[in-house]
Amino acid sequence: MASLNSSSVSFLNSPSLPNKPLLTTNSSLNQLSFPKSSSLINSNDSLTLFHVRSSRASSSRSPKALVVAAAANKSEPLKIMISGAPASGKGTQCELIKKKYDLVHVAAGDLLRAEIASGSDNGKRAKEYMDIGQLVPDEIVVMMVKERLMQPDSQDKGWLLDGYPRSLSQATKLQGYGFHPELFILLEVPEEILVERVVGRRLDPVTGKIYHLKYSPPETEEIAARLTQRFDDTEEKVKLRLHTHHQNVASVLAMFEDTIIKVDGSVSKEAVFAQIDSALTKLLEQRAEKIGSAIA
Ligand code: AP5
Repeated sequence: MASLNSSSVSFLNSPSLPNKPLLTTNSSLNQLSFPKSSSLINSNDSLTLFHVRSSRASSSRSPKALVVAAAANKSEPLKIMISGAPASGKGTQCELIKKKYDLVHVAAGDLLRAEIASGSDNGKRAKEYMDIGQLVPDEIVVMMVKERLMQPDSQDKGWLLDGYPRSLSQATKLQGYGFHPELFILLEVPEEILVERVVGRRLDPVTGKIYHLKYSPPETEEIAARLTQRFDDTEEKVKLRLHTHHQNVASVLAMFEDTIIKVDGSVSKEAVFAQIDSALTKLLEQRAEKIGSAIA
């Protein structure tokens, strides 16, 4: 299990967002209060736990491991949001989280780029806003994301929502539809690093993998030859996107203050993932403890 970088992760529970963590780790999620909507335990979890324990009575696995396994059971899939400035590493971390936790990655930007590629009227309109680094209007993006979250795979496996919500109105609508995250991951990266990341970013159209010419170069010549660049990945456009981000971020964070963890996104992608992985592991352990005490 990856260890938590105690100096770089902090949990927010103050209205004075975004830069005032009340609790910095060393702490664990055990010390946090999650919102009631998190439903860390439900009757399905308890039933599953009973089944696991009774069917593996002779197993060498410890009761704690069994409880953790029950907490990770698909009956209560994880629901995670990830946020951060443009090029803070959301997509890169989502690849790693998805690989380990098997969640459905729902990225608002990817949904919009697919809409553009389809040639639809909504796509044409969305591109006008994306070209100038502004938020695409709610009437285009809100239903798009809602419908993706309601698909059976998102419901069954759990979801990892990337780059959404980005405004108070999107956050309010999402809450209204009943979508609540158990954890809201906020990637923090200084602005000078963001610009360098944007201009060096390349995408593999075949695998969808994100590369960076300097920090995460393609593995082979063949991949290098087919890499593409996003139309909004210029220094000029990322500055516009950053401006939009700063205008909206505080109001979004205020909506999720009880579930936010701040992660230092300026270190290597592996070190960033170690922080996130540790937080997710602790979340599952916390679920397990709740299940354990409920059946004790
Ligand atoms: P979107 O596609 O979401 O873009 P963004 O928020 O600007 O974020 P990016 O995708 O640019 O960056 P990322 O954080 O995923 O970073 P990545 O992992 O790729 O949105 C685009 C546009 O769509 C918006 O401007 C808006 O118009 C519209 N839109 C989107 N959502 C909307 C919404 N909710 N409402 C309305 N409109 C919306 O990493 C970047 C680079 O850095 C890569 O090259 C990567 O290899 C590298 N890298 C990553 N991590 C590290 C690391 N730790 N160390 C070194 N390099 C790293």
